[in-house]
Amino acid sequence: MPRITFIEPDGTVRTVDAELTESAMQAAKRNGVDGIIGECGGSCICATCHCHVDKAWLDRVGPAGDIEADLLEFEAADVRPESRLACQISITDKLDGLVLQVVGPGR
Ligand code: FES
Repeated sequence: MPRITFIEPDGTVRTVDAELTESAMQAAKRNGVDGIIGECGGSCICATCHCHVDKAWLDRVGPAGDIEADLLEFEAADVRPESRLACQISITDKLDGLVLQVVGPGR
């Protein structure tokens, strides 16, 4: 079972077990990670699951898709090249050890 580390907006580090059937947003919500709201349930329309991917993991996580990138641009705060929406990151074994900095809800 992959383990994902979330750094909450206040700096608290939370490492959680993630299921292969869920997204990083779902893993965060199921484990009560602070700052991941997931208002739209993972439909890529709210941007309340915005995270910065640890730079060491960027290649494995990959870039945001077009719709995701547009949503980040218009709805999220502190958007960076490493920005992703946690609901669009599907958990795989390759992501065991992934580190995500939670940005929190947008503008
Ligand atoms: S949960 Fe709404 S965009 Fe990720």
